[in-house]
Amino acid sequence: MAASKLNVVNHPLIQHKLTLMRERDRSIKSFRELTNEIGMLLCYEVTRDLPLEMVDIETPLMPMKAPMIAGKKLTLAPILRAGVGFLDGMLAMVPSARVAHIGLYRDPKTLQAVEYYFKAPQDLSDRMAILMDPMLATGNSACAAAALLKSRGARDIRFVCLLAAPEGIAHFQREHPDIPVWTAAVDEKLNDHGYILPGLGDAGDRMFGTK
Ligand code: URA
Repeated sequence: MAASKLNVVNHPLIQHKLTLMRERDRSIKSFRELTNEIGMLLCYEVTRDLPLEMVDIETPLMPMKAPMIAGKKLTLAPILRAGVGFLDGMLAMVPSARVAHIGLYRDPKTLQAVEYYFKAPQDLSDRMAILMDPMLATGNSACAAAALLKSRGARDIRFVCLLAAPEGIAHFQREHPDIPVWTAAVDEKLNDHGYILPGLGDAGDRMFGTK
């Protein structure tokens, strides 16, 4: 199967906000707000091709047929914990979405993803799922999370991140060639600890003030 599509979202608003987030001295409050705002903007991009159906409504002046989003409510799937940073922004755009929480942590020695929590709607087969994590680094967490969503029947999954490393993109595309990726930037490489360079540091720590 051909590699999944990589969409680099170079909208000026996103690029500007991402630069602010990279700055070492940016406050936790500002980092969190920017993550939220970019989540909103990325949601706009990733849902660009949602199917519409014409429905009957009445304006104050007359009846008309008007477009509404068709099909089942979509699922937003943040990878805990940094993925939660995107959630509010995305929910502001799609308020009736379902939410699947995926708890994975990175073993600091092996860098492998370890599952500790997974709570999702029972059947994901007819819902688009937007999987989100700000950092696509080694790709281990993203790959494991996508596999969990597929185990619940998800067939239309999209992965959204803020920053991606070439290594992570290659890994994810190899394991999940059916899942397109949206990112605001592709950085240079990973360091020996699996951090993205130049990157923005540890997204979870910067968002939640845990360093
Ligand atoms: N997770 C992060 O928060 N930052 C990185 O650079 C890589 C993984």
